[in-house]
Amino acid sequence: MEQRVQLKTTSREQTLTLAAQFARLLRGGEIVFLRGPIGAGKTVFVKGVAASLGLKSSPTSASFSLMKRYQNKQIRMFHIDLFRLEETEVFNLGFEEMLEDEQAIILAEWPDPIAHMLPADRLEMNFVLEQADTRTIELTSHGRISAALLEGLCQAAAHL
Ligand SMILES: Nc1ncnc2c1ncn2[C@@H]1O[C@H](COP(=O)(O)OP(=O)(O)OP(=O)(O)O)[C@@H](O)[C@H]1O
Ligand SMILES: [Mg+2]
Repeated sequence: MEQRVQLKTTSREQTLTLAAQFARLLRGGEIVFLRGPIGAGKTVFVKGVAASLGLKSSPTSASFSLMKRYQNKQIRMFHIDLFRLEETEVFNLGFEEMLEDEQAIILAEWPDPIAHMLPADRLEMNFVLEQADTRTIELTSHGRISAALLEGLCQAAAHL
């Protein structure tokens, strides 16, 4: 069952606060698809999650610009960005490590080329550009894990 919620941030800092609240909900194995136009705030959000978990980025086998691995002793998080890639182009790029790691947190910008390779349970975040620094963030959960994430984030974001 799908659940939908809309949040709004009015500055980059507020999106970082939201990312920190989101980070506290992560347990491992969560998948997030980030959508929205260039400059909408997807990368700001992802970097905010990594920073707030105290994760450091480490080199990956896949083309460095397409996938970054963030980790500490407990958590592995992959940030991927497949802007302008086609499904045929992501074949054999070295995503196996990420795909085989059931405890990895995956945050994917422009995720469509690999969406079919990932588990169905995912949180979709659609960033909408509004006036100036305002962003509407539409959240849609697909499955139990992402529904819990969405609920947790809404409770936390009540104090945004
Ligand atoms: N409310 C906001 N939330 C996030 N970023 C904001 C906000 N207001 C302004 N910004 C600015 O918008 C830009 C967002 O850039 P970001 O790289 O996160 O976009 P993106 O969605 O990842 O784009 P791309 O598709 O090119 O990767 C940054 O320069 C940031 O400072
Ligand atoms: Mg980006």
